[in-house]
Amino acid sequence: MELWIATGNAGKLKEFQLQLKEIADLKLHVQSEIPGFTPRPEDGQTFLDNARIKARTLKAVRPGVWILGEDAGLEVTGLGHFPGIHSARYAGPKASDSENVAKLLKMMQIRHVADRSARFVCTTVVFTPAGEEWVFTGELKGQIAKVPSGQLGFGYDPVFIPEGETKTLAELGPGYKIQHSHRAQALKQFIQKLRGSL
Ligand code: IMP
Repeated sequence: MELWIATGNAGKLKEFQLQLKEIADLKLHVQSEIPGFTPRPEDGQTFLDNARIKARTLKAVRPGVWILGEDAGLEVTGLGHFPGIHSARYAGPKASDSENVAKLLKMMQIRHVADRSARFVCTTVVFTPAGEEWVFTGELKGQIAKVPSGQLGFGYDPVFIPEGETKTLAELGPGYKIQHSHRAQALKQFIQKLRGSL
């Protein structure tokens, strides 16, 4: 089976590769393999809108194959659920992961945020070769650490401590994420539905 992934995020791609390994005979492709592929701006109002934009843009140039688009982000309770759908660009249109993390910690400090609870959210849209749309969601609850720690993972992993843990996702590493993350939960539902449909 051939599955095309609509992402330009290397951190996410590594997690997709690890998680989807359990599907027998899976050949993963990524949008960057398509010469001249230009992603459309993620200008939706929700994670679902943006996951659809990614999946549909890829489907337009690769019709009739399995397509997976995903949008994810971090919602911090004390920041009114920000950065949410703006997570990738929180510190600016070309912000790096460390700039986004620095802005998050700065905003929490400036606003004297006492409630550091947060959650990662993931919405995954899959198009089957017949064009049917499947939607899966996942969340991971936790707390925002006061300082970043850990080298593993990407994005806000160095400041996210999952519920029931004392270490950040960037310390816990990919083994933890493929079991428990928001993305893992959505992908497990996809794998289950795929097995039922093949
Ligand atoms: P997207 O590619 O538009 O979905 O951007 C998602 C952004 O949310 C990423 O660039 C990260 O900043 C953040 N994010 C999403 N999932 C994760 C995760 O699993 N760990 C850390 N940050 C994440």
